[in-house]
Amino acid sequence: MKHYDNVVIFDHPLIRHKIAILRDVNTSMKEFRELVEEITTLMTYECLKEDVPTEEKVVTTPLETCTQRVVKDNAIAIVPILRAGLGMVNGIHVLFPSARVGHIGMYRDEETFEPQSYYCKLPDGIEDKLVLAVDPMLATGGSACDAIKALKERGCKHIKFMSIIGAPEGVSRVAEAHPDVKIYVSTLDRCLNEKGYILPGLGDAGDRLFGTK
Ligand code: PRP
Ligand code: URA
Repeated sequence: MKHYDNVVIFDHPLIRHKIAILRDVNTSMKEFRELVEEITTLMTYECLKEDVPTEEKVVTTPLETCTQRVVKDNAIAIVPILRAGLGMVNGIHVLFPSARVGHIGMYRDEETFEPQSYYCKLPDGIEDKLVLAVDPMLATGGSACDAIKALKERGCKHIKFMSIIGAPEGVSRVAEAHPDVKIYVSTLDRCLNEKGYILPGLGDAGDRLFGTK
């Protein structure tokens, strides 16, 4: 894949280890769900190391008073793309319990792979927050592109997109369509198959999270 300034591929050994278990067809629904959360927390830690919104706060220790930089309250919004993005929300909430959550519902047309939007509910004031849009799978990139477009139409200016597994064609598509959005992917897989599934991938993330197949 071509180099893009707005794409970060983690390839961290700890995350790679967890993704290997996630891919395994024998991994249970419970373990799958827990791993998605854990990987998301590790990704968020890395993804926000540069520009997490902070503010100064006066803290009194047992010895004196000092000024400390803390994460700004209520400055982050999480926006999962339904359904599978829901599996990533708790992984961010453990770090930012006060983060508001918006939901964007999309499903892929099975023939064309084009995303069909069916729901959008975003928190008041989202335009002024750092928005973490999340979906574990970035395949053709259609869902991510449309979700980011919807966020921009709502006035969001500071958007990051996090995905656990990306296909090169999908990552390129989102990177080119939204050069102002930083895209974080844990691992880049080989390609898509004729049904639009990522290879080697992990199958259908929504089905594995929610046990629908
Ligand atoms: C999956 C996945 C992404 C999308 C990725 O959702 O969770 O949203 O496919 O594919 P794309 O990059 O080609 O758009 P799906 O459409 O299967 O819906 P679901 O989460 O409701 O199962
Ligand atoms: N959506 C999934 O859940 N898995 C894929 O491999 C591609 C899209």
